[in-house]
Amino acid sequence: MSDELSNDAVVESREEIVATDTEQHPSAGAERAAAALAGVAPEPGVAKPDAILVADDVSKSFGGVRAVRVDHLEVQRGTITALIGPNGAGKSTFFNLVSGFDKPDSGTWSFDGTDISGAPAYRIARRGMVRTFQLTKALMRLTVLENVMLGATEQRGERMLAAPLRWVWKGQEDDVEEKARALVERFRLSHMAHEFAGICSGGQRKLLEMARAMMVDPAMIMLDEPMAGVNPALVQSLLGHIQRLRDEGTTIVLVEHDMDVIMSISDWIVVFAEGAVIAEGRPDDIRTNEKVIEAYLGKRRALPTAQENDA
Ligand SMILES: Nc1ncnc2c1ncn2[C@@H]1O[C@H](COP(=O)(O)OP(=O)(O)OP(=O)(O)O)[C@@H](O)[C@H]1O
Ligand SMILES: [Mg+2]
Repeated sequence: MSDELSNDAVVESREEIVATDTEQHPSAGAERAAAALAGVAPEPGVAKPDAILVADDVSKSFGGVRAVRVDHLEVQRGTITALIGPNGAGKSTFFNLVSGFDKPDSGTWSFDGTDISGAPAYRIARRGMVRTFQLTKALMRLTVLENVMLGATEQRGERMLAAPLRWVWKGQEDDVEEKARALVERFRLSHMAHEFAGICSGGQRKLLEMARAMMVDPAMIMLDEPMAGVNPALVQSLLGHIQRLRDEGTTIVLVEHDMDVIMSISDWIVVFAEGAVIAEGRPDDIRTNEKVIEAYLGKRRALPTAQENDA
């Protein structure tokens, strides 16, 4: 099914746009974030008053390419922090490293005050830090609901000894299903709950990934291009979901190429180029930053759009 044909999601999302525009500009969450960041200078590596993620000297090379070389980066709790930069700047690699999906050549990082450098992804997720992927990873032969249920960690039934003892895990599985259903509803996927994920549109898969990530009640969620390949009406719906999560206190780290989206939704923007953080600041700081303009125009002649980066 194409995005254009998924009428329910589109119609519902238009209603959400209205709700978002009239009720949430600026939302309490945005005001809280702005107040928390008020005294922070727009400089690469600047300290934040209440950082949930702190990374130091994180580097990774592929062959001769220094994909990531971040000296110091802090993400302020409760904000929507955008990571932007030209293609190949190292944004996804940085996500992979700090979320435990790839190993760095060097570096340390902490989440919520705990050193998690080198910890595997599942352990990091249990601590409350989850991520989604640039290319969605839904299991096509499972239903939407089953895919969301997979986000639950520490299932007793997963342990081999307990697996045959249905009474040990049955109650827990019911809880998991109930939670997954609530998330499926929240992300407006109820009409798709029992369909194979394989027939979801690109946009619905992005929603599914977000719903699955929310199963662990994360304190921080890292979204790698959640809007890429999603039709404009569903983009507005996704933006509404992201803002609402921030308003509820979840920290969001977002990789996105669409400048209009970035400028409208971000509390703070971090700019990557050739693996390093070259600028940080509020949208107005970044808009006029010479280094940022140079980083983009040096690689290409125009600022990028979301459509250009679906690859
Ligand atoms: N698994 C890999 N093997 C070899 N090189 C890689 C690998 N992953 C990334 N790279 C290289 O590392 C650099 C950073 O890539 P990365 O995907 O992190 O960039 P990005 O900022 O996410 O780009 P995009 O905006 O296009 O998604 C690029 O030069 C890329 O070619
Ligand atoms: Mg990427």
